[in-house]
Amino acid sequence: MPRNDAELSRSALVAKRFGARAAQYDEHALLQRESAGRLAAFIAANGGLPAQDLVAEIGCGTGLLTAQLAPLCQRYLATDIAPEMLERCRARLGHLPQLSFAVRDGEQAAFAEAPAAMVSNLAAQWFQDPVAGLCRLAGLTPRLAFAVPLSGSFPEWRQAFAAMGREPGLLPLPEESTLRQALCALPGRNAYFETATHVIRYADARAFADSFRNIGADQPRPGYRPGPIRPVLKRFAAGMDATALVLYGLVTEVI
Ligand SMILES: C[S@@+](CC[C@H](N)C(=O)[O-])C[C@H]1O[C@@H](n2cnc3c(N)ncnc32)[C@H](O)[C@@H]1O
Repeated sequence: MPRNDAELSRSALVAKRFGARAAQYDEHALLQRESAGRLAAFIAANGGLPAQDLVAEIGCGTGLLTAQLAPLCQRYLATDIAPEMLERCRARLGHLPQLSFAVRDGEQAAFAEAPAAMVSNLAAQWFQDPVAGLCRLAGLTPRLAFAVPLSGSFPEWRQAFAAMGREPGLLPLPEESTLRQALCALPGRNAYFETATHVIRYADARAFADSFRNIGADQPRPGYRPGPIRPVLKRFAAGMDATALVLYGLVTEVI
């Protein structure tokens, strides 16, 4: 039994942090809400989801994407590594008879019945290896649609830290070229992508930092040591535009 956070596995720590913020997640998940809408539109514009067969979602959180997709399907399995997030999703959408729930680590996930489609919004960046994890998911289903934030996101924050000669604690994100190449190289699969920029305005630097903390996404990169950030606070005293780069991907089986 782990006695403190240092003894938890990385995935257990991620689950714990998200779980602890589940109750307030919806209020603060601005980027996730935007990308859930865009991913649902991306899926609809590229053939939609199978209406009758099983659709599984990885990292459903409180159900921002689930709410848009589950009503379109006859069987939908919402999964997340954090039980508290899943409970929020159940509280929001448990009335839908086609919806079932399971606590599951999407990076290791196995399904008794192969889902006819899988979807995931801004969750795979939390895998130990997001590129390998998404490739694995693409092999479990004939149709994988996902959104994942990319390396190069939040340049404003990085530049502000670089001006102090430091690197911020932001989680390393997958490189777009590496991810595209890996998914395009999968045998028997076609891959289609769109990259989008989402700019979210925050009142100041604290509000930006809190935007991660408030949803439980504040696990820092390995080795990060927090220090004073007075110049960063000053730089963004009048507001901050935070730019996220998000890859929308669809990987389908070649028939
Ligand atoms: C940023 S939230 C996104 C949630 C939801 N998809 C949305 O759009 O609001 C990331 C979610 O992924 C979940 N997560 C993190 N690592 C995971 C893993 N290995 N397997 C499944 N879910 C995971 C977290 O618990 C959290 O609910």
